[in-house]
Amino acid sequence: MYPRGAGSPQSPTEGRHAELSSRLTEHAHALIEAVARATDTAPRAPSIEHVVAMRRELSEYLNGEFLAQLRTEEEVLYNFARGAGQGTLVASMEVDHRALLREVEQVDRAEGPLGAALAARAVLLLFALRIEKEEKVLLPGLIQAGIDAALVLGRPHHMLGTVPST
Ligand SMILES: [Fe+2]
Repeated sequence: MYPRGAGSPQSPTEGRHAELSSRLTEHAHALIEAVARATDTAPRAPSIEHVVAMRRELSEYLNGEFLAQLRTEEEVLYNFARGAGQGTLVASMEVDHRALLREVEQVDRAEGPLGAALAARAVLLLFALRIEKEEKVLLPGLIQAGIDAALVLGRPHHMLGTVPST
């Protein structure tokens, strides 16, 4: 286990991660459940229109707020981590990031709703791993290198991506 930042009960990304994770889970589960129940013979089984609507809502969420947030983190956090000598960790996280992007793409591109639901499940797992790596490995590494991650993430966009000289 890595220590948390001194005097900080929560890492600067935890609140943001919790919110993204909760909305992702909500949308992904709505699709997975709709797909699972669409084959029910019960009279209240969801219609194919409902399944299609849940897939569209998940896709809109992923391609909107979710990917925008991930991109910002890539540009900011990963850049700082590289500058702090964590290049190997960042390279490994970028492999995960590309896998996550491929699964997000599959939510849109899979031929049927089952393929989209399977991709949604993969996105959930990959995102859970990503936030754990960020919070338990990457951020403590930045703190050890003397970089204030809260300050980094709070910077205006035009200032992001520049590594401070330490
Ligand atoms: Fe993150």
